[in-house]
Amino acid sequence: MRLAFATGINGEFANNGSLPWGVPIKEDMNHFVKFCANKVMVMGYKTWLSLPETVQKKYKTLVVFTRKDDTYYNFKGLKFIVENMSQFESFIEFLSQCEDGLDQKTEYCVIGGAGIVESSLKHLEIFDAVLHTLVDPKEYELPHTQTISNSLITRLDTSFKNQDPFFYENDNFSITVTEYYRN
Ligand SMILES: NC(=O)c1ccc[n+]([C@@H]2O[C@H](COP(=O)([O-])OP(=O)(O)OC[C@H]3O[C@@H](n4cnc5c(N)ncnc54)[C@H](OP(=O)(O)O)[C@@H]3O)[C@@H](O)[C@H]2O)c1
Repeated sequence: MRLAFATGINGEFANNGSLPWGVPIKEDMNHFVKFCANKVMVMGYKTWLSLPETVQKKYKTLVVFTRKDDTYYNFKGLKFIVENMSQFESFIEFLSQCEDGLDQKTEYCVIGGAGIVESSLKHLEIFDAVLHTLVDPKEYELPHTQTISNSLITRLDTSFKNQDPFFYENDNFSITVTEYYRN
């Protein structure tokens, strides 16, 4: 199981249905696409809505969490597994009991939203690898609409070894991409 997410230097995570820094940052996306390749993407419903249609269509199977019934099942012809997952502790049990032949051999990548990432950071023991991108804007502050506590994010440093950061600069941002793996 993998986890991938990005935050600003003050934990900024989301802003009114999109990213705090606006459009996705190319260097971050390159890492993200590679890190999530061939994985079943796991996300909250609003994260699903935030993805461009081209990205939505890329994935054959997704897990989208909802507290509603099966409203989104087979939405736009995609195979969705929609589940009310109120107990994050039972995440692996939940995934292993999914219908349609998915089991623990399937590799998953959790990508958001904020509550799901926060819960994930409190249960890092279930993850084999985490991708975290830190975005530092050069000329302005990112909106603080939806944030993730930096004290939770620093759990990555104590829970994993072999950190291998990549640094990028463009006109607007300095970006640090860290891939965390277990030994
Ligand atoms: N910075 C990043 O790396 C990153 C990554 C992904 C997304 N984002 C941004 O995050 C925002 C979307 O995230 P969000 O936090 O607002 O929403 P979200 O978690 O993606 O979606 C919230 C919805 O997911 C369902 N859900 C969430 N947790 C659940 C649980 N434990 N059990 C059952 N259902 C659950 C509920 O759906 P129902 O209402 O259908 O019940 C809930 O309303 C967007 O702005 C997006 O751009 C940022």
